[in-house]
Amino acid sequence: YPMGPLLAIESSCDETACAILSTQGDVLAERLVSQSDHAAFGGVVPEIAARAHLALLPDLVEETLKASGLARSDLGAVAASTGPGLIGGLIVGANFGKGLAIALQKPFIAVNHIEAHALSARLPGVFAGGLPFPYLLLLVSGGHCQCLAVEGVGRYRRLGGTIDDAAGEAFDKVAKMLGLGWPGGPVLEALAREGNPTAFAFPRPLKGREGCDFSFSGLKTAMARQLEPYGMEPLPRELAADLAASFQQAVADVIGDRVTHALGMMERPTALVAAGGVAANGVLRARLTALAQAHDLPFVAPPLRLCTDNAVMVGWAALEVCREAQRLGVPLPDDRSTRP
Ligand code: KG4
Ligand code: ZN
Repeated sequence: YPMGPLLAIESSCDETACAILSTQGDVLAERLVSQSDHAAFGGVVPEIAARAHLALLPDLVEETLKASGLARSDLGAVAASTGPGLIGGLIVGANFGKGLAIALQKPFIAVNHIEAHALSARLPGVFAGGLPFPYLLLLVSGGHCQCLAVEGVGRYRRLGGTIDDAAGEAFDKVAKMLGLGWPGGPVLEALAREGNPTAFAFPRPLKGREGCDFSFSGLKTAMARQLEPYGMEPLPRELAADLAASFQQAVADVIGDRVTHALGMMERPTALVAAGGVAANGVLRARLTALAQAHDLPFVAPPLRLCTDNAVMVGWAALEVCREAQRLGVPLPDDRSTRP
């Protein structure tokens, strides 16, 4: 187990982040830059992201250290996301972290990015008294869409996931079709507030189907079909708002149905947990809150800044993994990035 504070790095997508946690998991300092260079391209460009991580990381780490009031030599370990994610950025973050660890002669802990999302609900302060296992995690971001039974540290059961797009990807693509900006989720949600969610009867892909897989590509096609008559013409705002609201409703409906199935696939879950950028969506959150209540479960979502990619969750996962290895009396696994 780290003998001093742990420095963690996140660089798997377009967030460059660094955090320093005490051995108890308290956040001593954190810095995060959401790369803005991608908006002009309407999506994350891996090569640009990797180069931006390379340019940003050294100063970011230095700033985080300074803000924590610690010297490098006070650090007990270094951790970084090593996968899954965009490989260029991962290589930058992981090797920066490894280099630092070697220089300090402290352990380097490779963290699986999904595991970090999965354990973020157990961060101090998120759930009073600490969230016990097993819980259901709905992970919905731009790159991921899956239901995991989180049964313990290192014990994850994938109950189902998307067979095509991730939920956030669907939001982003539909927002693009509607002529909104990127990332599309927040803008689409804002526009949907002005619209009627029952104006258009979009399909509910896989709703009622056994298991808890997701599919969003049919919804995208349905939206494209609605837009066909307008060609390149700008959409009347009212119509765009109705389309956005109806699409969002369909997504919330489908996710609600899939999560209900997922809950049925677990024995006595302690909570329904949501993480990932799409978990910021108000309509979806309301649906999940009601759903959890109906199952007599708490609905837990880490605060927004911990739902999206960040280094705090990476540091926390590293501590959890160390604690579990110590409990079991086994050495730290060398690299968890290929699991679960
Ligand atoms: O977790 P995240 O920040 O990054 C990764 O993909 O790992 O998630 C970003 C995704 C984007 O697709 C964005 O459009 C979506 O989350 N998103 C939302 C909302 N805020 C962000 N989707 C729907 N409603 C929102 N309010
Ligand atoms: Zn993520």
